[in-house]
Amino acid sequence: MWTRRKILKTLAAGGGMLAMPATIQEALGAPEPDVEIVLTATKGEAPVLSGRATPVWTYRGKVVKGDARSVQSIPGSYLGPILRVRKGQRVRIHFDNGLDEASNIHWHGLHVPDDMDGHPRHTAAPGKRYVYEFEIKDRAGTYFFHPHPHGRTGRQVYFGLAGLFLVSDEEEQAAKLPSGEYDLPLILQDRSFDAENRLVFLSDEGAGGGGMMGGGMMGGGMMGRGMMGGGMMGGGMRSGGMMDMMTRMMGFLGDRILVNGRPDATLSVATRPYRLRLLNASNARIFKLAWDDGSPLTVIGTDGGLLEAPVQRSYVTLAPGERLELWADFSRHAVGTELTLRSLAFAGDMAMGGDMMGGGMMGGGMMGMMMGNQKLPNGAAFPVFKVRVARSEKAPAALPQRLSTIVRHRPEDAVNFRKPRLFNITMGMMEWGINGRSFEMEGVAEDEIVRLNTSEIWEFTNDASMGMMGMMAHPMHIHGLQFRILERGVTRGLREGWQSVSAGYVDEGWKDEVFLMPGERAKVLVAFKDYAGLFPYHCHMLEHGDTGLMRNYRVRA
Ligand code: C2O
Ligand code: CU
Repeated sequence: MWTRRKILKTLAAGGGMLAMPATIQEALGAPEPDVEIVLTATKGEAPVLSGRATPVWTYRGKVVKGDARSVQSIPGSYLGPILRVRKGQRVRIHFDNGLDEASNIHWHGLHVPDDMDGHPRHTAAPGKRYVYEFEIKDRAGTYFFHPHPHGRTGRQVYFGLAGLFLVSDEEEQAAKLPSGEYDLPLILQDRSFDAENRLVFLSDEGAGGGGMMGGGMMGGGMMGRGMMGGGMMGGGMRSGGMMDMMTRMMGFLGDRILVNGRPDATLSVATRPYRLRLLNASNARIFKLAWDDGSPLTVIGTDGGLLEAPVQRSYVTLAPGERLELWADFSRHAVGTELTLRSLAFAGDMAMGGDMMGGGMMGGGMMGMMMGNQKLPNGAAFPVFKVRVARSEKAPAALPQRLSTIVRHRPEDAVNFRKPRLFNITMGMMEWGINGRSFEMEGVAEDEIVRLNTSEIWEFTNDASMGMMGMMAHPMHIHGLQFRILERGVTRGLREGWQSVSAGYVDEGWKDEVFLMPGERAKVLVAFKDYAGLFPYHCHMLEHGDTGLMRNYRVRA
């Protein structure tokens, strides 16, 4: 067997290109993967609530080559599996689409070539396979994967398709963080169920995205005063009608909180430190997480891996798609103690301009009703999971003061240092957009083209008036890279809502999303390396992305 290393050695020893057989040259171009996995998306059922099993969509994972620990299931969960790889490894993942609609996989947060990234233009038809193959170039961290077919992402994730992609490296190992059973993945989601324990989502009609918003549906002053008053919101509106359409645009919120696919989660822990890896895999739910005993949270990592040093927050804000890693030390609690991680109340995830609906007629309450989330609107308080300190265990309890080294790009080196590229979130004719343009599958505008091997400052703004839709919070995600958040600001009149969550931002580390409250703007420093191509950037409120709040950027060589 000619391994890559052996070939390189031979070359170095003077073997030379000419002496090499063709197969070896081929091998040099595409080294054999270290890990090979088959991931199948399929329909199944899972016990979620008591009584009847819930029909779900789920991935089945199988290692066909390499370390058998590369695929781990989460016991009792339809989510996942967890894929575990090391930096520098080459992975090949055969995605088999066992659904009856097109699908694909996006490796959220990973730096991979454009045809490996799960762009909506690269999908596998039902019964077909798409082969992903890439080298793990990212630092250790909590990444994840989910489907990304345009207009259907929200639906496919909602019914169960999402898993963690955990990368480790030497630096992380040197930090000696809690591992094995003390390293807990916690995938947070909100879902709704009907009386038969089936997941409730939007009706299937018009779920193709973009086009459904056109036509007469919203014409003719449908949202006018008269209609809002006279019982419009009652009865049949909840299914299929205007309510459905509004939810399709504004984001689906469930009324049950699931952790790793189970309700009422309780972690049984020992009196020692744990590493908690939080992923918000909800479609549109924003969490404001805090311990109920008032003790601060110790954050050790964000989207793109470990921070340089731990930071403390009295609460943390976690928008859809974002990850946070916590150091949770239960050694100061007595056996028998119960703690709860809660999501605290906050305000202003939807802001309405006073004049827009004739005197605040559509305040949060009405807006909430229209979103079909009257039971648990964004900003409501609720418990997320319980921790029961069940046994005593001696373990080294010291929190490392140094976690990793972050190599910073300098903002001054950005090619547009003086003139950041602007991305304004907009709402046109009932259609989300960025700078007034909605998603086009292969479309990219002149001002969305960047050069390989440069860095830039991108500025996202969420302060445009969106007419009667008001303003909403948007977590903006850029594919294919990790960035640094340089600065933020908020429109004066909208400080109050912003203040109810902003102390929970963790901007210290690498990020692939920047969460923006209404009125907020943020500058981020992005760098384009290794791969030319077409990559999406979009809002990770999945319904927003599915209905147009997504664009491509092109990295030109
Ligand atoms: Cu996790 Cu393009 O998304
Ligand atoms: Cu959004």
